[in-house]
Amino acid sequence: MSGHGPAIPMTARKSGPLSGTADVPGDKSISHRALILGALCVGETRISGLLEGQDVLDTASAMRAFGADVEQSGGGDWRVNGVGVGGFAEPGNVIDCGNSGTGVRLIMGAMATTPVAATFTGDASLRSRPMGRITDPLALFGCAAYGRQGGRLPMTLIGAADPVPVRYRLPVASAQVKSAVLLAGLNAPGETVVIEPEAARDHTERMLAGFGAALTVEDSAEGRVITLTGQPELRPQTIAVPRDPSSAAFPVCAALIVEGSDVLVPNIGLNPTRAGLYTTLREMGADLTFENERVEGGEPVADLRARFSPAMTGIEVPPERAPSMIDEYPVLSVVAAFAEGRTVMRGIREMRVKECDRIDAMARGLEACGVRIEEDEDTLIVHGRGAGGVPGGATCEARLDHRIAMSFLVCGMASQQPVTVDDCGPIATSFPIFEGLMSGLGADLVRGE
Ligand code: S3P
Repeated sequence: MSGHGPAIPMTARKSGPLSGTADVPGDKSISHRALILGALCVGETRISGLLEGQDVLDTASAMRAFGADVEQSGGGDWRVNGVGVGGFAEPGNVIDCGNSGTGVRLIMGAMATTPVAATFTGDASLRSRPMGRITDPLALFGCAAYGRQGGRLPMTLIGAADPVPVRYRLPVASAQVKSAVLLAGLNAPGETVVIEPEAARDHTERMLAGFGAALTVEDSAEGRVITLTGQPELRPQTIAVPRDPSSAAFPVCAALIVEGSDVLVPNIGLNPTRAGLYTTLREMGADLTFENERVEGGEPVADLRARFSPAMTGIEVPPERAPSMIDEYPVLSVVAAFAEGRTVMRGIREMRVKECDRIDAMARGLEACGVRIEEDEDTLIVHGRGAGGVPGGATCEARLDHRIAMSFLVCGMASQQPVTVDDCGPIATSFPIFEGLMSGLGADLVRGE
C-alpha cells in the first residue's frame, strides 16, 4: 500500500533497565520469498511464522493479483496455492508494493519470463529508488520495461514470450538483483547463471533448492557461481520462517546501551550471510552471547542474550562484511555513538539507495543528537561519546524508513535528553509490534513530541 496515513511522531526517553524476553517477528527476506515461491508452484505451500508487516502483506496481495490463492489462517500461519512456474496471470490492476524494494524487485524477476504485462508502483520512498539494476538483467531474458526517468516506478514490465537463459555477473553485491535473476531464470529453458563477486544473503538459493529446483553453487576465481536449471517442477513446501536478525538488532542494541539491561531475544536466524552485526558488536566488546545454538529448517538459529555493555570501543568494520549487515549500519551507528573512540564503516555506498539515503539520514540525526560524524560517498565515521555520553534532545527525520525510525528511538532510550522521531508509521513495514515489545522491556516510548 502506498503511503501510510498521517505521520506518527514518537519520543524515546532515557529508560530504566530493559529486561525480559523479546519475541521479534519473522524474517522479512524469507517471508517475501516463501510467498513468491509458493505462488510459483502448483499445490499448497504452508508457511508458519510469516512476518505480517506491511511489506510482506503487499507481496501477498501481489501474488493474488498474479493468480495465486493466498490465505491467512491466523497467528502467522499462511497457505499459498500457486499457479506453477510460468503460470502467472496478467494482473487486472497496478501492483502496489508500498515501501518494499525487496517485494517489487523479486516480483519483477518472478514475472519477467512469463508473457504478461504488469505495472508496478509504491510509496514516495520506493518511487525514488533505482530499478535499472533489476530491469537491465531482466532485459537479457527478453523482458521489456518502461518506467520514469532514471528507471523509477511507476513502471510497466512486459514479460518475455520466448525467454532465453542468461549468464549475469552482478555489478553490485545485491541479494535482490541476484534473486530477481534467479526467479526469472525459473521460466527460461536451459541454465541461468549468476556470478556474485561478494556473497549476499542466500535465502533464495536455499529456498529454491528446498522447493526442488536444480541449483548448484560453486566458489570460483570470479566469485560465487550459482547455476539454476530452468523450468523445474517445484514441489510445495512447509516453511517455518525463523525470526528476523535485522529486527532482533533493535532490542539487542538497545540492551547494550541502556544502563542495567539484560534482554533475551530467542530463536533468531543467524545465517552467516545475515549475521555480520553480531560479529561486529562482539568485536566492540559487547556482552552478547549466543545460547542454545541449533539448526532449524536448514538455517542456523540461536537465542541472543544482550546485557548493558558500558565499555564498548569503536572499531574499523571490515568492508567485506558489509553485505552481511547492510541493513544494520543505522543501528550500529547508534551503538557506536555510545562506545569509546571512532567506529569506521567503509564500503557502505549501498546504504544510499535503501528506503532513504541511510548514510545521510543517520549522519544528520546523530549530529542533531550531539555526535560528531564524518562521511563520504562510501563511508560513515562515528566519533563515540562513551556510555551515557550522547546528549540527544533532537527531533530526527525517519524519511519513510523503518530502520532509521527504530534506530533513533533506540538512541533516545539511552540519551541524556529525549529523542523524537518525526514519523514512526514506517516501522509497521517490518516490525509492527516494535512499540509494544520495546515498552514491555521497559523502554520509555510515547507517541507525540
Ligand atoms: C534484501 C536484500 C538487501 C536488503 C533488503 C532485503 C533481500 O538489499 O537491504 O532489506 O531480502 O533480498 P540488496 O539486495 O539491495 O542489498
